[in-house]
This record gives sequence, structure tokens and C-alpha cells, in this order.
Amino acid sequence: MEKLEIKGGRKISGTIPISGSKNATLPILAATILTDKKIIIKNIPIVRDVQTMALLLSTIGSNVKLSQKNKKIEIINNNKLKTFAPYNLLKTMRAGILVLGPLLAKYGVAKVSLPGGCSIGSRPIDLHLNALKKMGARIKVKNGYIIASAKKGLRGCLIKFPKISVGATENILIAACFSKGITKLRNCATEPEIKDLIQFLKKIGCRIIQSGKRSINVIGVKKLKSATHKVIFDRIEAGTYIIAAALTNGRAKITDIDPKIISTEINLLNKMKVKIIKKKNHIIVFGSKKIKSINVTTKPYPGFPTDLQAQLMVLMTMANGISTIKENIFENRFMHVSELRRMGAHIQIFGNKAKIYGKSKLYGAEIMATDLRASVCLVLAGLVAKEKTILNRIYHLDRGYEKIEKNCQIVVQKLED
Ligand code: EPZ
Repeated sequence: MEKLEIKGGRKISGTIPISGSKNATLPILAATILTDKKIIIKNIPIVRDVQTMALLLSTIGSNVKLSQKNKKIEIINNNKLKTFAPYNLLKTMRAGILVLGPLLAKYGVAKVSLPGGCSIGSRPIDLHLNALKKMGARIKVKNGYIIASAKKGLRGCLIKFPKISVGATENILIAACFSKGITKLRNCATEPEIKDLIQFLKKIGCRIIQSGKRSINVIGVKKLKSATHKVIFDRIEAGTYIIAAALTNGRAKITDIDPKIISTEINLLNKMKVKIIKKKNHIIVFGSKKIKSINVTTKPYPGFPTDLQAQLMVLMTMANGISTIKENIFENRFMHVSELRRMGAHIQIFGNKAKIYGKSKLYGAEIMATDLRASVCLVLAGLVAKEKTILNRIYHLDRGYEKIEKNCQIVVQKLED
């Protein structure tokens, strides 16, 4: 098992280019199942989840060419893809569930593994399955697989999501593009990654009208075309490095981003006295030794993102005073707290609320990553801790962050056991 050795006391400074969004790339790759024309996707992040999704597509018969050097994927699907997504690929990448909607819409049948477990919560997929049933699918779950059929194809209807879900919105949106008639989606998630998916779907010929803040209408089509699409930047990666620079009292230029998309995060960090200068496609972050405490609740976009909660918590340990975080999206997303406590952080947990006492001195320790965002939070803690930190289970990091050692300018040794 690989470990990271992180030497503390480093400033994060210089220019940090942000890669394409993992969470935009994954649904777009799944959506390519709808068309048999050539698709080129640019600015993809070279991270493990994207490689796993590319492997899943080639496993079902897509002709996939992934160029790590050019950060580009070329896909040509034929019209006879296999409609089986195996457990061994979905157990590490939950987004594999996003092939269910397109396979069912295009082929009328699909057998997809239930997604693997996850440390941040139970992460059910009832919203995905109930919506597909409403569109005419027959679905049963047996031996860890979803066995779905829609002999006459899926038919459009009104779908009101009882709860805002990024994945369910994406899965059903993609399925609706290839269904009969009009599908009206209500109470949709509005994350920038979904807006990017809609841009891509429109480019290949899907007919999508955004008819309100969380409302999307889709007119099903049967003919699609080829397209080239550049994926948007990864707003969570951008937020992570902004916090890293603030935390280490550095001065960093975060490039290849659209600051408007992360205005919630920037405004919140401004309130914490982090100085940020916004330009058209980059920002400059000035670290500060006088971080102000704050109270935050995670919410669906445009609220403060749950995927940045762990990273913000590290900044809060440096703040003057007591801060709180209310985690409203996942029921178990404080797994990083016990590891931060081992480094000297003073944090109390009351249900889905964390109370973070500021001015905690963090000390290096041997710690363990539990999920993607918790692992990067522990890297940030290692950057500010005295002495060195050894981070175990760093495969979580590789799922979502490119070149974190380079961008964090951390001198790390990937140590074997
Ligand atoms: C997406 O996960 C992201 N993953 C997550 O990022 C992100 O944290 C999450 O959205 C919230 O923004 C990808 O885009 C690949 P949800 P998703 O459906 O779609 C409940 C990362 O680190 N729910 O919006 O799975 C669910 O349990 C990952 O990059 C149901 O109850 O999240 C959660 O409490 C982590 N039934 C809430 O909704 C369902 O059928 C929001 O989940 C589906 C979800």
C-alpha cells in the first residue's frame, strides 16, 4: 500500500493550473453511449475514476482512445454495445451507475452492478430507479445487480425528484434524451457539472430546454451526431488549492478557472479574511495569519459544496475563535475528524454538526485516508503540521487529484509498506 510522507511548514505559492472536472467528465463519458458517432472530449483530468469509466466503456464494446499526454478521449461506440456493467469496475467507482440510464434508453435492457459501498454514507440509488420505473422500465435487484428492461423503450413523463440528487438528475437526463416524447424533470440538481453535461448533450443533437431554476424539459430524439467537447474546470480542485494557499500563508495564482462558478466559496473565504483577487480566468490568493472563524452549512449548488467541507475544516483549525460546519448532504462525512484530532485538532461532533476550535497547533502523525476528499484534507493538514506526516491509503487521492504532489509542491516520498 502506498503512503505519502509530507513535510510540514511549506507555503503553497506560484501558479497552479486547474484540471478538467472529474465530476463533469464521468457523466459525459456515460452519455456517449447514446451515439454511435465519433466523440472527442478534451481537458479531461487524468485521474483513476476517469480511467475506470473509460475501461468500463471499452469493456462494453466502445472503441475508446485515452490520451494522457493530450488529456483527451476519443470514443466511437457501435450500435451493439454490451448492456452489462460488472461489479469489479463499479465497486471502486460509484459513478458507473450513470451507464444505467443510457443503456436502458438505447437498448431497452441493462444489467448494472449496484455501486460499491462508500465511507461517506449509504448513498442509495432509489431516486434513479424510481424515475426509470416511472418512464416504463421494469427493474429488479438480484445478487447485487440491477436488472432493468424497457422492451418498448422508455417514455417521457413528469419526474419530480423528491430530493435534489446530482447523479439521479444526470442519469435520468441522459435517459430522457433517447426516450419517446417529452420528459419534464423537476427539483433537479444545478451543479456546473450538470450544465456542462447539458452543453455536451445539446452538441450531439439532444433537445433540452431549461425551463426554470431546477426544471429541465427534454424532447426525446433518435438520431445523434458526433461532437467535440472541452470539459469545464474542476471547481473542487480549485477550492482545494485556494484553501491550501490560504492555510500555508502562501501566495498562489490559480489558473484556467471561471471565478463566477466558485463565487460562493470565494465570498466565504473573503469573510474568513482570505484575500482573493478575481480576474477573468484566474484568481490570486494571499494567505493570511489572521483567519476569521465562520459557520458553514453544506448545500446543493449554488450553496457551499460538501466536497470542500473537509478541506475547509483544516483552515478552520487555524482560525481565531470557534467555527462550525453543518453537513447536510451526506450522513457520514466527518471521517477525517478522528485523523485531524490525532494531529492535535480540537473538534467536537454533534450529529451532523462539527465544532472546530481555532488556533489548534497541528503536529505530524501517521494517519489514514478514508475517502477522496478526506484524504486531500489530511494532505493540507500535513502541509501546516510541525514535523512530518505519513498518510496511508493514498489510492483515494489518485481517484480525484492529478499531480497533487507537484501542485502542492510537497516533497513526498511514495513509500511502500
Ligand atoms: C455527486 O455524487 C458527486 N459525485 C459527489 O462527489 C458529490 O459529493 C455529490 O454529488 C453531492 O454534490 C459525482 O459527481 C461522481 P447525490 P452523487 O445523488 O450523485 C442521497 C467526490 O468526492 N441520494 O447528489 O452520488 C445521497 O445519499 C464525490 O467527487 C438518495 O437518497 O450525490 C446524498 O445524501 C463524493 N437517493 C444526497 O442524496 C438517490 O437515489 C445527495 O447525493 C441518490 C442520492
